[in-house]
Amino acid sequence: MSDVLLETRNLKVHFPITSGALRRTVGHVKAVDGVNLQVRRGETLGIVGESGCGKSTLARLILRLLEPTEGEILFEGKNILQYDRRQMLQIRKDMQIVFQDPFASLNPRKTVGTIIAEPLRAHKAEGNHQRRVRELLEIVGLLPEHMDRYPHEFSGGQRQRIGIARAIALKPKLIICDEPVSALDVSIQAQIINLFEELQKEFNLTYLFIAHDLSVVKHISNRVAVMYLGRVLETADSESLYATPRHPYTNALLSAIPLPDPIRERTRQRIVLKGDVPSPSNPPSGCTFHVRCPVAQQQCKEQAPSMSHSQGSSDHHVSCFFPIGEIESKGART
Ligand SMILES: Nc1ncnc2c1ncn2[C@@H]1O[C@H](COP(=O)(O)OP(=O)(O)O)[C@@H](O)[C@H]1O
Ligand SMILES: [Mg+2]
Repeated sequence: MSDVLLETRNLKVHFPITSGALRRTVGHVKAVDGVNLQVRRGETLGIVGESGCGKSTLARLILRLLEPTEGEILFEGKNILQYDRRQMLQIRKDMQIVFQDPFASLNPRKTVGTIIAEPLRAHKAEGNHQRRVRELLEIVGLLPEHMDRYPHEFSGGQRQRIGIARAIALKPKLIICDEPVSALDVSIQAQIINLFEELQKEFNLTYLFIAHDLSVVKHISNRVAVMYLGRVLETADSESLYATPRHPYTNALLSAIPLPDPIRERTRQRIVLKGDVPSPSNPPSGCTFHVRCPVAQQQCKEQAPSMSHSQGSSDHHVSCFFPIGEIESKGART
């Protein structure tokens, strides 16, 4: 059995922009524009990037809630884009999602018991559903008697626990967590992240963990991919990504995380990127980050870099002509 559970190859979705009464296509929003990712069994791959860079769209593509314009999605080595409805139904048991806003994703008119039992009913799971719901509530740190209550009776953190119980009900292999703690208070975020970690150990889960902030995914991720305008700019194991970021964009994101040590916090340099994220309907030429990059050269405006192997860690890849630290070390070596 291969250790890669999920793989995307050159995955793209371009949404048409239409105009006028005839709804002519006048352009495309390149929300996801050639994403290559590998998620290994049992690991957590963190995905980070600013709002609008295509993270949720990528999640929807992987779950096939949206059809891609191009590319492949391999789950356990098979291209699921060729699957028919019946085959997809089978795969959906193995792939679940936890959403950002637990208020919006839980039906306010249904009891918690009904909500958590939904996937069990939809997939005609064997066994006593009520008993399974009680068990799931306990697993996520709630009480069995909570099953008769409604979502509004719970706090944000508790509601996210309900969403998690629903996601693990069918014992999935992969859970896509789309900013699952972004809407929660900071004090609650750590509790929910701990719960994700405990569940991963207990049920051998694989996570694709999306966040817009590198500090959130730091502890939970084995590897991290940094996205910008629908593409991945850098991937590495967490340790090398945080210690030796190669891409100027990753470096800027990292410099925005406050340090726990007040003296280091006061003296360190914060990299402020110029301007806003450009529109994905009209991305810049060459390297799409060049308009905001502090070290961009002429080449970056003209050519698009491809993902290449970085020096140092074997698992570190970067899409940049002038990765940080590499030019100097190349010089030092010769
Ligand atoms: N159905 C759609 N039609 C057109 N544009 C879309 C659609 N869904 C998302 N987008 C655009 O795609 C880009 C990526 O969105 P999204 O995946 O939600 O970003 P993120 O989750 O990283 O904040 C945004 O510019 C968004 O406006
Ligand atoms: Mg999103």
